[in-house]
Amino acid sequence: MSSSRSGLSRVLVAVAAAALVSVSSAGPQAWGPSGVQYGQPGRPLKLLCPGVTSGTSVSWFQDGEPRLLQGPNSGLGHELFLAQVESTDEGTYTCQTPDGALRGMVILQLGYPPARPVVSCQATDYENFSCTWSPGQVSGLPTRYLLSYRKKTVPGAEGQRMSASTGPWPCPQEPPGAARCVVHGAEFWSQYRINVTEVNPLGSNTRLLDVSLQSILRPDPPQGLRVESVPGHPRRLHASWMYPASWPRQPHFLLKFQLQYRSAQYPVWSTLESTGLEEMITDAVEGLPHAVRISARDFLDAGTWSAWSPEAWATPSSGKILNHKEEQNWPSFSTTPPQPSLQPDPWQLDNSDPLEQVSVLACLGIFSFLGLLAGALALGLWLKLRPGGKAGSQKSGFWTPMIPVV
Ligand SMILES: *[C@@H]1O[C@H](CO)[C@@H](O)[C@H](O)[C@H]1NC(C)=O
Ligand SMILES: *[C@@H]1O[C@H](CO)[C@@H](O)[C@H](O)[C@H]1NC(C)=O
Repeated sequence: MSSSRSGLSRVLVAVAAAALVSVSSAGPQAWGPSGVQYGQPGRPLKLLCPGVTSGTSVSWFQDGEPRLLQGPNSGLGHELFLAQVESTDEGTYTCQTPDGALRGMVILQLGYPPARPVVSCQATDYENFSCTWSPGQVSGLPTRYLLSYRKKTVPGAEGQRMSASTGPWPCPQEPPGAARCVVHGAEFWSQYRINVTEVNPLGSNTRLLDVSLQSILRPDPPQGLRVESVPGHPRRLHASWMYPASWPRQPHFLLKFQLQYRSAQYPVWSTLESTGLEEMITDAVEGLPHAVRISARDFLDAGTWSAWSPEAWATPSSGKILNHKEEQNWPSFSTTPPQPSLQPDPWQLDNSDPLEQVSVLACLGIFSFLGLLAGALALGLWLKLRPGGKAGSQKSGFWTPMIPVV
């Protein structure tokens, strides 16, 4: 726990550092590998000779070409002006003072300012959600993303007060460097505003996305789906499954399930809804393999159904013809566990243990004996009390005659 905390704080520091860098990089040339300057195709551009003070005149050469690009008398000092850069202008430039004392080198790389990033958010449990993004357009330049979120306040409900609890907070990238960040411990019913800002040396662009956990919730599919035949029941299949590992079970956040099954020869799925972790299919086709799959959703219908689990296959057990008839006439209790006995239910009373029947009779006997005894006691008491004075006993209540009269 503490190691994951410190990991998180490291990420937070990294994000904060990134934010600081972006603030200090007001000039478009200021970040990326040192010695590289950036420009956009079709636009004018000024290259600056590094290590030379602004008033100094320099000559410019393109790498590998002896031809002078711009002489020292251009009046532009240490700048090289390119009216309209094209991809053929990319490469290495050198600059030097007329006496050859100072030399600088610049690499020109072309690309585009960021387009607005494409962002989407997902939740597979009820208190964390993640957002992923991709560039709206490939910029061809070094790029970083600044990620933050704030809790949206309902207008009027919180007044004008901007409380610290509404953010913004950094949304840490998980794993570090991935195009994905995670908001932990979100409130199920709150609205959040996600800010994904793409930054490159030519500028920045922001996408804002409003998200609420309960609307984006989509659980992972249930796990461990098992389907088994039920001995003696040729039309039954018993299915059981588990919660997805990503959904800790908690009384306030339960899942409900949708079970689908079909026989190998029939393309259409039948559907059963269930709130438990097992279900009995009672109309399977005898002797045919069946496919079964299952999906989960928040118990109160928040979000959407999960993807389907992988299919599980089973074939109902073959039964005798007598059993088959019985099967169709019985009411089907879909949640009863499979009967381990090969005997159909109606025979069960006749076949029950004689010892059980004896003990039932014994119980009945004991109860009737106790009843008789109570009746006799009551009668005896009444007979005994009657001669002690009708008026007194009626007025003073039941216990009065027990008190000795002096
Ligand atoms: C939310 O994320 C935290 C940290 O990864 C985890 O410990 C917790 O179990 C998650 N919550 C749910 C409901 O899965
Ligand atoms: C989005 O994030 C960027 C970078 O952190 C910030 O400059 C900008 O103000 C934010 N926009 C909004 C609307 O919060």
